[in-house]
Amino acid sequence: MNQPSQYAYPINSPFDLENTELYQRWRDQKLVNYPEDIADLIVEITDPRTLTLKEFSALQQRCRKTNMAIYVSKTGTDPDPEIPLALGRAFGLEDLNKNWLADENGLTSLKVVNEGIRQQYIPYTNKAINWHTDGYYNTADKQIHALNLHVVQQAASGGENALMDHEMAYLLLRERNPEYIYALMQNNALTIPARIDEGGTVVRKEESGPVFSIQPDGNLHMRYTIRVNNVIWANDPLTEEALNYLSQILYRNKEYVYRGRLEAGMGLISNNVLHDRAAFTDSETQQRHYYRARYFNRLVGTHFNL
Ligand SMILES: [Fe+2]
Repeated sequence: MNQPSQYAYPINSPFDLENTELYQRWRDQKLVNYPEDIADLIVEITDPRTLTLKEFSALQQRCRKTNMAIYVSKTGTDPDPEIPLALGRAFGLEDLNKNWLADENGLTSLKVVNEGIRQQYIPYTNKAINWHTDGYYNTADKQIHALNLHVVQQAASGGENALMDHEMAYLLLRERNPEYIYALMQNNALTIPARIDEGGTVVRKEESGPVFSIQPDGNLHMRYTIRVNNVIWANDPLTEEALNYLSQILYRNKEYVYRGRLEAGMGLISNNVLHDRAAFTDSETQQRHYYRARYFNRLVGTHFNL
């Protein structure tokens, strides 16, 4: 096995496998009053562009516990990009990952596109997207630490999202077998093959890295996709077992998995938690439109609790 990436950072982190005492303290704290219902993640706000201190604190408090919060605002179908951008700034998020299909302002408009290059990518179709964290195919120095979504319009039917705190996934895996964490921290745990265009040019190099990594500030990052095509997993029995258990956690779809449908004016702020998307059907008047913002840093003031 490759040396786990955690050893690159000599920091006191509960996510370090060597640090059992600290881990146990963190785990016990994490499980106290952990929200069971998606309703517990929801905060009603007036306008994300002008958050009050009270609204901000309510959102931040939830993010500190579960790495995510859902807001219900009164902006409805207002498509102003400032809505998600201003909210991101309120949480110290400036460093947008402007991927090649992003809009000029760095946001990505997720909606069904029937022309051009976008139609080849699942996010721009009405198909389901299975469990993942965002940016798992990015290079190690461009990993995504915060992911926000804002709904301008929801589809006529379908389009629910499932959400799971990646720290809770870590916790359940480590409780089952700490060696699962060891396997998923290997530097070659998950490899995304190079993307080669029709002319044979390498558009994106092969990217190999861990699933779980400990950041310089001691926080946990997760890089994951449950999809099986076009990904290469480390070929050892422990990794296979760990992945099977993680699938079970995600698919049993009960404890610690939140599922719900975000409506216009609602949104998610998160430290790039695990999520999926159900398939949906648009109509003439109800065409699903999400703004997606990906950032290279975490939501401010959401360091792990001890
Ligand atoms: Fe995503």
